[in-house]
Amino acid sequence: MPNQPLFPTTRMRRLRTSETLRAMVRETHLRIDDLIYPIFVRHGSNVKNEIGSMPGQFQWSVDRLEEIVGTVESLGIPAVILFGIPAAKDDTGKVACNADGIVQEAVRKIKRLSPKTLVITDLCFCEYTSHGHCGPLTETPRGQEVDNDATLELLAAQAVSHARAGADIIAPSGMMDGMIRAIRRGLDAASFELVPIMSYAIKFASGYYGPFREAAESTPSFGDRRTYQMDPANVREAMREAELDVAEGADMLMVKPGLPYLDVLARAKDRFGLPMAVYNVSGEYAMVKAAAANGWIDERRIVLETMLGFKRAGADMIITYHALDAARWLREDGLPGI
Ligand code: PBG
Ligand code: ZN
Repeated sequence: MPNQPLFPTTRMRRLRTSETLRAMVRETHLRIDDLIYPIFVRHGSNVKNEIGSMPGQFQWSVDRLEEIVGTVESLGIPAVILFGIPAAKDDTGKVACNADGIVQEAVRKIKRLSPKTLVITDLCFCEYTSHGHCGPLTETPRGQEVDNDATLELLAAQAVSHARAGADIIAPSGMMDGMIRAIRRGLDAASFELVPIMSYAIKFASGYYGPFREAAESTPSFGDRRTYQMDPANVREAMREAELDVAEGADMLMVKPGLPYLDVLARAKDRFGLPMAVYNVSGEYAMVKAAAANGWIDERRIVLETMLGFKRAGADMIITYHALDAARWLREDGLPGI
């Protein structure tokens, strides 16, 4: 700060003396419009299964979606992101592309129940393959690995089937090279040129996905995802990933997980002009819930402070399992006092 007068002329505490004044000089704001709520949809009927490692989060069958979609809508949360757990899996995961697949059914149902709620579909194969990897496998000198280029065609087909069911935004999460280009081409060829792509452009191979894999029943049966998800040490590489996705036609970019990667989020926000999403993932949620259940932290304060941190770092949208609670808290008494 050039030529800032020093103490005692300058006293930083002057602008902190009341909540009204603090609110007037506040630089960052958290709004309900920033929130995206993840929903797990499961085959079967009359299912509402709580996920053990994610207290307060459930797997829902399509016939029970009304309850949760009604809550989302009444709280004013603008969007949900869907994950599907199909009845049967195979080695390619092709059931993910069926017109009457679990996600496609759920999209149709949600758009009927609440037309204004934006439905984002997570686009990947790990919930649909018997081996739990993010695409079909191929034999390599190093053993079995995901076949990148074969996965691209399947991703385009899955994206088109989501769009046909009424998905508003497609969010590919598999970290395959060329996925944005393939999906954009597929959507355009099927006349869905106005369906945007929210790319999980910067997705790290993270221990924080543990509870999600229980929730989505998508733990790999062998190995891990380090041959396609990113090394947590790399930020230059993260910028290259984002740059390529922008060049291939991504409309929005995502950084995932959130808290351990705020530096990456801030840099991507500065570097690219695209709207940025951050995914506050299952392990981040589980830690907060566990500490809150023990009475070790004030859940409301911690959650709102975390969400504000994402905004400050550059997020325009926050995908979070805390969305319902955060929206309630914002409605009840706004941010003051976090
Ligand atoms: C699927 C996918 C994952 C998550 C979102 N999409 C899991 C993974 O990559 O293993 C994780 C979300 C979370 O942990 O909340 N590719
Ligand atoms: Zn996947």
